[in-house]
Amino acid sequence: MNDGVIYQIYPRSFQDSDGDGVGDLAGIRSRLDHLTWLGVDALWMSPIYPSPNADFGYDVADYTGVDPVYGDLGEFDALTEAAHARGLRVLMDIVPCHTSIEHPWFREHPDWYIWADRPNNWISAFGGSAWSPLDGRYYLHSFYPEQPDLNWRDPEVVAAMQQVLRFWLERGAEGYRIDAIDRLLKDPELRDDPPASQPFGLPLSEDEAKLALTNSRNAPDTGVALAKIREACGDGFLVGEVYLPSARWQPYSDYFDAVFAFELLHSPWDAGSLRAAIDATTRRPGAAWVMSNHDFGRLPTRFGDENARAAALLLLTLPGPAFLYQGDEIGQGEGPPGERSFDRAGRDRHRHPMQWDGSPSGGFTAGEPWLALVDPARRNVADQREDPASMLSLVQSLIALRRELGEGFDLLDSADGVVAYRRGGHTVAINTTSEPLAVPLGAEPRIQTEAGALHDGILAPHAAAVAMD
Ligand code: NOJ
Repeated sequence: MNDGVIYQIYPRSFQDSDGDGVGDLAGIRSRLDHLTWLGVDALWMSPIYPSPNADFGYDVADYTGVDPVYGDLGEFDALTEAAHARGLRVLMDIVPCHTSIEHPWFREHPDWYIWADRPNNWISAFGGSAWSPLDGRYYLHSFYPEQPDLNWRDPEVVAAMQQVLRFWLERGAEGYRIDAIDRLLKDPELRDDPPASQPFGLPLSEDEAKLALTNSRNAPDTGVALAKIREACGDGFLVGEVYLPSARWQPYSDYFDAVFAFELLHSPWDAGSLRAAIDATTRRPGAAWVMSNHDFGRLPTRFGDENARAAALLLLTLPGPAFLYQGDEIGQGEGPPGERSFDRAGRDRHRHPMQWDGSPSGGFTAGEPWLALVDPARRNVADQREDPASMLSLVQSLIALRRELGEGFDLLDSADGVVAYRRGGHTVAINTTSEPLAVPLGAEPRIQTEAGALHDGILAPHAAAVAMD
């Protein structure tokens, strides 16, 4: 799995099987052929646990159940079995740092959470104070107020979460994507975050950017808690959502197989920034590549429609596990900016249903989709499967080629506007500009983003190619 392609499924929006307009586990099972056809190694499902959906599953009300909208444990077993029969591994999404405010633990074990008599200056990821009042005290929530933070310094919390981690692995899952893990341990004295003296290194909200964020997260003894997670998971595959620049990946990379490389995800599409992000990140062990997801948006929106194919080529030719977000294989579009029908933080637009065919419901549901489809007539799996020049065909070929790239990685010096690197016996080049540029590819390309993009060592605007040395 350390060099595998992991396909991110956002369960609400992948495939509905019962006509209620919301995706579900039986729907996922019915679409596994798409994953095997693509050639991916594993699927990761965003949370499927019972949740009041203040944060669409990232507010968990029962860590060992399945939300009825998605199915039940029997359906989970059927899905896992079907995935395994196709050689696909299954990763769950675990949310260890906070529960839903409706989780019974919050009522039954309030001491498992973090309380203060008075708020300090810590800021919630979604804006405003990270503290909310309750019964004359304040509880900490690093995200929405409906997501109270667990106190991982309490051995009972650790033991309860270890049981949860074992539960899904014993049931057949092969590992976890671990949510917001840099929030696991905070300063035990709850001291204020000092003012920022240097940039954080990744985008933050305006309020967060004013603070050094040294006490509200990523405490120096975090490794102690990470060791407990690893202990419960044995050799399960663990990828951490660590919202820190790669220079600060330790101790997470000591205990996990991989850590999401957010510097690349947040890089603008210019060669200098991409090279700097790749260079910084590949110097550390454990980079997991991700260029879009349910929080940050899709390839065509973030990098430009004209660069979406090159972005997919980049994602799938870097060394280490690559995470492909559902819909990106067809260059699926997004909802309008600022759309906020469900998510207060404005992330609905990255979460529209999968477009399987060109019908108005995109083949996603026989009912009314929970979130309207974006552009099924323009981009859908059925049409693109028939078209050898489609983005889908490109992604499938890239995943196949990836198996042959071999060991080794060297970022090459290249002309302005070009990102180039060597993987095993191949060279990859990307033209990030709107001008044709000379690239260090001599041989015929094994893959290029459009037919004829590479000609006599010149790469067309916005194109990318891979050639054998
Ligand atoms: C990261 C998840 O990807 C995001 O969707 C969620 O809102 C936060 N963590 C809080 O759990």
